[in-house]
Amino acid sequence: MNSKRQVIISSLFVLASQFTIGQNITIPIETRDNATCFQVDKDNRLWNVYFGKKLAKKSEYEYISSQSHFSDANAGKYNSAYTPAGTWNLSEPALQVTHHDGNPSTDLKYIGHKTFNGKNFSLNVIQLADSVYKINVELHYKTWPDVNVIEQWAEITNNEAGDITLNKYASANLFFSGTDFFVTGFQGEYLKEMQPSEEKLKQGIKTIESKLGTRAMLLGTPNFILSFDKPANENSGLTVLGHLAWSGNFKMEFEIESNKNLRLIAGINPYASNYQLAKGKTFVTPSLIYTISENGTGQASRQLQSWARNNRILNGNGERQTLLNNWEATYFDFNETKLAGLVKNTADLGLDMFLLDDGWFGNKYPRNNDDAGLGDWQENKKKLPNGLGYLVKEAQNNKIKFGIWIEPEMVNPQSNLYNEHLDWVIRQPQRPEKLYRNQLVLDLSNPAVQDYVYSIVDTLFRKNPALSFIKWDCNAVIYNAWSAHLQASKQPQSQLYVDYVKGLYTVLQRIRAKYPSVDMMLCSGGGGRADYEFLKYFTEFWPSDNTEPVERIFLQWNYSYFFPSIATDCHVTNWGKQPLKFKIDVASMGKLGFDIVPDHLSATDLAFCKEAIKNYKSFKDIVWHGTQYRLASPYENPYASLMYVNENRTNAVMFTYLHSNRFFDGTVSNRPIKINGLKVNMLYTVKELNVYPGTKSSIDENQKFTGDFLMNVGLNPDLSLSRTSVVLLLTAVD
Ligand code: DGJ
Repeated sequence: MNSKRQVIISSLFVLASQFTIGQNITIPIETRDNATCFQVDKDNRLWNVYFGKKLAKKSEYEYISSQSHFSDANAGKYNSAYTPAGTWNLSEPALQVTHHDGNPSTDLKYIGHKTFNGKNFSLNVIQLADSVYKINVELHYKTWPDVNVIEQWAEITNNEAGDITLNKYASANLFFSGTDFFVTGFQGEYLKEMQPSEEKLKQGIKTIESKLGTRAMLLGTPNFILSFDKPANENSGLTVLGHLAWSGNFKMEFEIESNKNLRLIAGINPYASNYQLAKGKTFVTPSLIYTISENGTGQASRQLQSWARNNRILNGNGERQTLLNNWEATYFDFNETKLAGLVKNTADLGLDMFLLDDGWFGNKYPRNNDDAGLGDWQENKKKLPNGLGYLVKEAQNNKIKFGIWIEPEMVNPQSNLYNEHLDWVIRQPQRPEKLYRNQLVLDLSNPAVQDYVYSIVDTLFRKNPALSFIKWDCNAVIYNAWSAHLQASKQPQSQLYVDYVKGLYTVLQRIRAKYPSVDMMLCSGGGGRADYEFLKYFTEFWPSDNTEPVERIFLQWNYSYFFPSIATDCHVTNWGKQPLKFKIDVASMGKLGFDIVPDHLSATDLAFCKEAIKNYKSFKDIVWHGTQYRLASPYENPYASLMYVNENRTNAVMFTYLHSNRFFDGTVSNRPIKINGLKVNMLYTVKELNVYPGTKSSIDENQKFTGDFLMNVGLNPDLSLSRTSVVLLLTAVD
């Protein structure tokens, strides 16, 4: 699945010493503060015996299992490290295999384990094998100790005499001993992405999953907060933030077993996805990535954000481009002159790049609305008589960059592509087509389609080497899942969902091999795609088409549990009745962009806009690369407050918004908000930014406060009905 990963692992086997082999072995896997621990029993089965605080004395891990006696007369033991199906286990399995002779039984025994230490991570590999059938399972635990992050996946190898079928092949099977567990899932729909919903788990299985085919998100997301003993809290409590790094159908099952402990099985959704594994081949599952905090969601998300910036997101520590996007400025209604005007506006505003959105292509079937043209990636001659090249040049003349929107995995039935390559389209040949946004999905399990999708990007870059940004959209889900390619190549149709995603990763790997650093935004009919497998190839994602700024405060708050602001694209649009200042202040908490017609702004708004962009550029480093603190939750207050602090803790930006005036009595700011992340003994000044022309800040920028004061007493941003958003810059003065 991931060739790079396989290269690392195989060289590790050559380099590392032999596997440790034997019975009654204890295998603690530690991060800086926490540990999970495995133990081998007398029958050579592997059990997960601990999840919690790291023990001071390593030799004591051995005694953990002797202190608990959990077993059930019917289901046996629940804490298998990778629960097999068809033998001793009756609970939800992690692995269910049909062997080459049709036998459905699997029992995994411990073979050995070893550890490899990298620069800032350790990789622990535990090898298991079935004692009757020749399949091996390697459980991989990659830990980044400093940020308490564990990335976990499984590799299943078929050494049998023939092909086997993987019916269920989870990435991770975790076990938490305890009594009260609270899980927050993030569900929603178009324009309502990432809505949190927390519940106390009761006996049985709570499932968070998706079956949309092309996109993990929309209705459900592959993210969760798990909190022990009490509901999730920002600053206290044992908390796990988890994320499945897979861009297709996923399933996460939280099972409270009969002893009230929690089992978690997470991975690719087995729904309609039996996978045939050929003799001699290995299936690498996607990763479950999780971080553990003993101080609530605040610390957990700072750990995950830091991990993501340093280890996962493409160019996670680098720069990003502010932009003007024409989608909401023009929709499909544009021509070269209009766009050239927007290019000029982009430069005048002081932004880095102009992004041309949907509608620039298709001739026989022009893309003048969303029912035609997808698949025909030639410039529309009527709208762009001089091609993209002319606009790219216009951008260069204006000293800005140029970016472009594509949706290369899709096709409209009204297109040349559909007419010429019906066999490339996912559809049931004998049934009526079911369209989603008037379009269908191309079959990325087919290598010819992969070549075609790659060539769309490659051709754009070859013709326009100065292109500096791609917005990669994906609006449709997979209905009528059926692949002409799998049929012709005699592979099971049940591989389509998995092979679609693998095919897409293959295309992205090829694109990144040739174009390693160009910025790319993940977009999916709003926020349908944001996961840590995709973000190896993308620099950022689009959280939602809902840009109403109050909704955005909540949305961005929820995304921030899992993703850093450098990857979160936030645009100012015409949505919402709030003043422009409020909109820009909200969008300034992520990567700032605009989707407006600057010529429609009043002279004062325009002047303010330019000033706010200048200010953003002065503090963007802190927002993109700093540490984020969620100070006041919009769910608990009529206001919200967040801040970002730079690495040396000498500079910070604090954003505060009044999002509701229900019960407003004129005293919203009756109490200070406690700041976080500063140096106790350092002196700071506080200066208000983005002050709208004609208004005066009520913050005294000459006053100095110690970090001690700001963190223990707090700071009052002085919100009121006439000051609904306040941006404060804290600067160390000694
Ligand atoms: C859906 C995206 O979310 C929008 O931002 C825009 O790019 C449209 N697609 C274009 O069709």
